[in-house]
Amino acid sequence: MKIAIVYASKTGNTQELVELLYKLFRSQYINVEVYQAKDFPIPALQGYEGVIIGTYTWGKGEVPAELLPIYRAFENQDVQQMTTGVVGTGDSFYPHFCGAVDEFRDMLYIHSTLAVTLKIELTPQDSDLGRCHRFVELFLKRLERKTCT
Ligand SMILES: Cc1cc2nc3c(=O)[nH]c(=O)nc-3n(C[C@H](O)[C@H](O)[C@H](O)COP(=O)(O)O)c2cc1C
Repeated sequence: MKIAIVYASKTGNTQELVELLYKLFRSQYINVEVYQAKDFPIPALQGYEGVIIGTYTWGKGEVPAELLPIYRAFENQDVQQMTTGVVGTGDSFYPHFCGAVDEFRDMLYIHSTLAVTLKIELTPQDSDLGRCHRFVELFLKRLERKTCT
């Protein structure tokens, strides 16, 4: 099973969240490749059974520029069968909390098999651990359902 987490992080919050999710996958003996968005090989996208996007939100609830190439690739490639998830960190001080998560969610819902989303206030806290576990659980459940059909 080929799974990747592709993320962008300016100040480290989203990276911290991605590292936590990576550990949770590894604790279930699931191998996951982790890429900063700038390093992800876009032409290889269709080779993955599962992809998780990790994003911060900038501007007025916008998708970060680093993630636009993969956003467009999801729109333009045939990834309907791919299981996807999106996680993000944001600041609820802003009117559109984790707006980039919502942007990805709406697009991935149309173009892929979106399993689950997760929004975290700034950095993951101990109190977020349960939701992170649930994210991994739901993502894997959907992925297994897909690979069985
Ligand atoms: C200029 C600026 C604009 C931001 N806009 C938003 C926003 O619209 N919605 C939101 O939820 N967070 C917003 N944030 C907060 C960041 O998304 C948040 O701090 C995030 O955790 C940063 O992630 P990173 O550490 O991975 O870069 C903004 C932050 C800055 C500096």
